[in-house]
This record gives sequence, structure tokens and C-alpha cells, in this order.
Amino acid sequence: MTSILIAYGTGEGQTKKVAEYIDSVLEGQGFDVTTTHVSEASDIAVSEFDGVLIGASVNNRTHQPEVLTFVERYNQALADRPSGFFQLSLASAFSSEWARDGAADYVEKLEGTTGWHPDRVGLFAGALKYTQYDFKMRWLFKLAALAFGLDTDTSRDYEYTDWDDVEHFATSFGELVESKRPPSRHDGTIQSTVRGTVGRRGVALSLAIGLAGVIYFVSRWDKGTDQRQ
Ligand SMILES: Cc1cc2nc3c(=O)[nH]c(=O)nc-3n(C[C@H](O)[C@H](O)[C@H](O)COP(=O)(O)O)c2cc1C
Repeated sequence: MTSILIAYGTGEGQTKKVAEYIDSVLEGQGFDVTTTHVSEASDIAVSEFDGVLIGASVNNRTHQPEVLTFVERYNQALADRPSGFFQLSLASAFSSEWARDGAADYVEKLEGTTGWHPDRVGLFAGALKYTQYDFKMRWLFKLAALAFGLDTDTSRDYEYTDWDDVEHFATSFGELVESKRPPSRHDGTIQSTVRGTVGRRGVALSLAIGLAGVIYFVSRWDKGTDQRQ
């Protein structure tokens, strides 16, 4: 049976949810799928899988450090077999060109840092998980959401992930692995699976600046809190 490893990093669980959905799609298509958090994958023989998918979310314009460590550690195994990367971000909740470019930039940065060039890339809209943020994060994200036209009711969470796109990505990757195509550098075209919910040109740049501001503010706040304690 063709085997696929899905290893992911996550903050509030949306990437885990997507990883598990991809798992169910591929299992349904007859693949033998193992899905695990990257931190729990240290004993996994990556080179024994026919294909490998890695997932991460964007947090302050970068991915989970443990995902980067995993990719660097298994770089050769990833290069030797069909591999794919899927990313969750709020940038992908917007359909503008700016947003698409912004979301793709995060992946390019990952590729530049690790030297890994996945054969397939899926860019998925993430979630606003107000109920999981602490008080200050909840309000900072509410302010950012107000500015960028996302949802602002902090008493609940909002999911922008397009599950049809995730399914399409999973199926496409399964076909790639099944075909046993030798691993190759992806051809520079990123398979964007973004379906917009807002659609205002230029909003991604504002989002990026706004999010960067939020993160900067939060980190300064945290430092201030640490110093006061
Ligand atoms: C602290 C924090 C920082 C974030 N920074 C970014 C960012 O720089 N760019 C972006 O597009 N999305 C950003 N996001 C949105 C997340 O990528 C999105 O919420 C995603 O669904 C999180 O997935 P996860 O639950 O698997 O971590 C951020 C979210 C949080 C909570």
C-alpha cells in the first residue's frame, strides 16, 4: 500500500485539523497514512514513506520553529521522494493578488531557509480562534479584524479554511505519490488554493503590516510585563 506521512506544527489547532482532514481524504483513497505532530515524529523513519506532507501555520510571518527543524533534519529524505507543504495563514483569507503574494512569500522564506523545495504547496486560509487567545490577544486581533474586514465577535471562533480546496490539494498530492514520479524541484508555480472571502486589492499588505504591528505590540507588552514582574 502506498504510504504517506503527514507531519505538522500548529498554534491553536487549525493546521492539525487540516492535517487530519487530508489524512481522511487520502485514507479514503486507499493510502496508508500516518499523521503526527512534528514534535512526536522524532522516531519516525521518514525515508520509509512513499510521500511526505508537512503542514505549518504562519505566526508572526514565520512558521513553527519545530517544523523548520524537522524539515532541516529530514531534508535529504524529503528531496528523495514526492513531498508537499501546506500552510495556514490569515493572509490566505483574502483573495487579492497582494494577499496571494504575501502568503507565498512565507513559503519562499521557508524554502530559502531550509533548502527544501516541496513538489506541491497548498496555501489555505486559517482561523481566528478568539476563544483560545488570552485577553490582550483577543482584543488586538479584534482590532486587526475590524481594520481588515474580518469577523469581530470575540465570543466565538471563525474558520476561513476552504475544505474543498484542502480536499483538492490532498487528492492532487495522492496522485503525485501514486505516480511514483521522481522527486523534483517544484517548477516555481505555487498551487494556490486560496478562495477569497474579502477580495479587496491591497488589503493583504495592510493585513501584514497590521499583524506585524499586533505582534510587535504584544511582544513589547510581554517584555514590559516580564520586567514589571
Ligand atoms: C500570534 C499570531 C500571529 C499570527 N501571525 C500571522 C502572520 O504573520 N500572517 C498571517 O497571515 N497570519 C498570521 N496569523 C494567523 C494564523 O496563521 C491563523 O490563525 C492560523 O489559522 C493558525 O493556525 P494554527 O491554529 O494551526 O496555528 C497569526 C495568528 C496568531 C495567533
